[in-house]
Amino acid sequence: MTKNTKYKILSIVGARPNFVKAAPLSKAFSKNTCLEEIIVHTGQHYDYLLSESFFKDLDIPSPHYNLGIGSGRQAWQLGKMIAGIDSVIKKENPDAIVVFGDTNSTAAGAIAGAKNYIPVAHIEAGLREFDKAIPEEVNKLLITASADLYFCPTPTAISNLAKMGITKGVHLVGDIGIDLIVNNLGKIKTLEEQVLKQYELKIGQYFFVTCHRVANTEVLDNLEQILSTFEELPLPYVFPIHPRTRKAITITGMSIPSGAVEPIGFFETQALIRNAYMVITDSGGIIKEAYFHKTPCIIIDKQTEWLETVEEGWSVVTGPDKMRILELVTMKNAGNFTPASGKWAPDLPHTNCLGNGTASFKIVKILKNYLSGVATDNKQYA
Ligand code: UD1
Repeated sequence: MTKNTKYKILSIVGARPNFVKAAPLSKAFSKNTCLEEIIVHTGQHYDYLLSESFFKDLDIPSPHYNLGIGSGRQAWQLGKMIAGIDSVIKKENPDAIVVFGDTNSTAAGAIAGAKNYIPVAHIEAGLREFDKAIPEEVNKLLITASADLYFCPTPTAISNLAKMGITKGVHLVGDIGIDLIVNNLGKIKTLEEQVLKQYELKIGQYFFVTCHRVANTEVLDNLEQILSTFEELPLPYVFPIHPRTRKAITITGMSIPSGAVEPIGFFETQALIRNAYMVITDSGGIIKEAYFHKTPCIIIDKQTEWLETVEEGWSVVTGPDKMRILELVTMKNAGNFTPASGKWAPDLPHTNCLGNGTASFKIVKILKNYLSGVATDNKQYA
């Protein structure tokens, strides 16, 4: 195979959490004349508010390919995506494939790459939840098995990979999601006043909540517990609702919670997380973002891959346990909150353990060296 000096990179995206990681990397790719990025959108997320609006807001180039796969049973969805990506690989003959996070689109991209003997770079590699009942955990394992380059956000991720015997091609670069926030902090701050007004909220006097993981939406008892917890919170709450959750609520005949709103854009979401009294969520992305903004976070999942945020005390894992959540919320409320002081932030160490906003820069540098045959084994923040 003859190669030009320009390297062709196929970035595979498909769902909201992929887009927020692809955005800073796309920007970094565009600054390198020796790299050409081809974006493939699987179509896993197709609602405007979950997909197109992100491309627009985050200034991601329009996808070169949209496979339009949509939703369906997981194995079916994965199979269709692999076949679609395989066709694009055949046509484009890329030098590398980049995949982000742990969605079905990520797994499809990684498998299609490995099956075509094309180097696969995994962004947000090495995270584990140690429960194969979680669809994302199965994806994580498939992606790890298929990848060649592992870009890890945390030391925990590095050590998870080492336990599987993977030490080659492993790089600690920090979390790429933080890049997007750091690069746009000014914009986020200017949006604050308008967003708080739009949702009729006051600084530090509301909860920002989300719930969309399978374990919390497909198990009726969990969903009921969580929704009734939200209604009993001691302050107003804003709940951007995922289509899966809305569907589950409608099917079971429950009423849509009072704080529910349509999915919110990325920068508006950051403004809301930043100014919230507390975050309650099962979203991995939002756990990290709450940590970055120094907003305490209750994790309504049974576990988290973002252990560092728990170790520093900024997050607490409760699962869908109503009593425990309300106990935590009330305890904090009674102890430290004074409305006059604005947002409540506990007196905890904050080490920016998820990185400093330079992950995309490091990834591009390592990828370029890798493709030009220069060995890199950087396991430290540069
Ligand atoms: C996916 C990711 C999850 C991520 C989440 C963020 C997997 C296994 N999970 O979950 O890690 O946190 O995205 O949003 O890939 N739907 C719509 N409109 C859309 C997209 C989905 O109505 O634009 C509905 C579909 O009916 C579908 C359901 O939402 O049945 C779930 O979609 P799915 O593609 O399975 O993944 P998410 O739950 O969004």
